[in-house]
Amino acid sequence: MKQFTFTYPAKVYFGEGIAAEALKQELPKVGKTVMLAYGGGSVKKSGVYEELKNLLVQAGKEVVDFSGIMPNPTYAKVQEGAALAKERQVDFILAVGGGSVIDCCKVVSAQAVTEEDIWDMEYRSGKFPSAGIPMGAVVTASGTGAEMNAGAVITYEEKLWKGPVVGTGAAFAVLDPAYTATVPPMQVLSGAFDTLSHAMETYLGNSDADNVSDDVALAIMRNTVVNMRRLLADIHDMQARGNLMWDSAMAENGILKVGRLTDFQAHQIEHQLGAYTDCNHGQGLAVIHPAYYRYILKDAEDKFTRFAREVFGRDTAEDGLNALTDFIQECGLPTKLSELKSKTEITPELLRNVADTCNIIKSNPRELDRDEIYGILCECL
Ligand code: NZQ
Ligand code: ZN
Repeated sequence: MKQFTFTYPAKVYFGEGIAAEALKQELPKVGKTVMLAYGGGSVKKSGVYEELKNLLVQAGKEVVDFSGIMPNPTYAKVQEGAALAKERQVDFILAVGGGSVIDCCKVVSAQAVTEEDIWDMEYRSGKFPSAGIPMGAVVTASGTGAEMNAGAVITYEEKLWKGPVVGTGAAFAVLDPAYTATVPPMQVLSGAFDTLSHAMETYLGNSDADNVSDDVALAIMRNTVVNMRRLLADIHDMQARGNLMWDSAMAENGILKVGRLTDFQAHQIEHQLGAYTDCNHGQGLAVIHPAYYRYILKDAEDKFTRFAREVFGRDTAEDGLNALTDFIQECGLPTKLSELKSKTEITPELLRNVADTCNIIKSNPRELDRDEIYGILCECL
């Protein structure tokens, strides 16, 4: 295994009705002014907003609302949140939502305590934040695992760029499967596919033989598929939602990635597709993965064969990828870019731009060049 240091800073509160206990434990540790951050309104409709706001008020906190965080959060929204946090001298941020709300808040937290522009700081000066307003995350839509790490994915519209910005990790995360009850079925499945993707992308990177990370990644893939199938039979199956919520956190809390290299090339392509379109993250991945994996199959045939056997009970690498494609169809997830319902038309020219600007991972089974990425994207049209 490669050298690593590993810490696990987020405390997790899991289970139905756990928020009251979590906030009872955590709120006494933080200052008086709390930013309650959320998205486009689902938490108001579901009653989660009211429940959490009452808990904050009962704990004597002054609540500052930061609302309207959009899916695929923008850099402009980060700046809006940071300005509000500075103006109202926010002591603590409670992010309530899916990956988009949590990611936006991670960067708001870091941006609010520095005068430097955080994108310039990270991408021009190569410096990363060491301070931020403390935050907690209440997950209402699972899949990204954003509650368990400090990395955020932000869309910088003016730069036509979507990619990682390091922020502040949540000190604690509340995982209540019941909070996901109102998530639309397609988002539940695309979120779960994102979890599957995280485990596949980690597994496909270079690793030592017989390392535990591969074993755990395969277990998470298997468990994610099993529980997605349970949701296909009954979308309200709360036990399956809870299992997927923990799969999601496990896949992105860093434990799978220690001592090895990861791939994440499909993610790089999807993120940049997200810079040019408004495509949903999990659905974009569902389209890209089969085409990408078919292209690199011969470069990691042993790993794909093991994936075929252990995740889908098939004998060969090719059959495993057929099973993955069939599973995506079985879930009703998109299999072509045209099915992504993007407001921007996805043309070959747009795909050329995506291929020319996405990050290229050097540690995947084979380093791709931009023409190869363009070819893979064209296969998805
Ligand atoms: O905005 P609201 O009204 O809350 O609606 C949201 C949104 O429209 C809705 N939703 C959330 N909870 C709900 C609910 N609707 C009904 N009931 C509830 N309880 O779901 C929609 C999608 O939410 P979003 O947060 O965008 O989805 P997701 O969790 O998939 O997050 C996607 C973002 O996370 C990034 C993606 O790139 C994308 O920007 N990622 C973050 C990662 C990380 N930080 O580790 C890793 C991932 O690979 C990913 O890139
Ligand atoms: Zn993802």
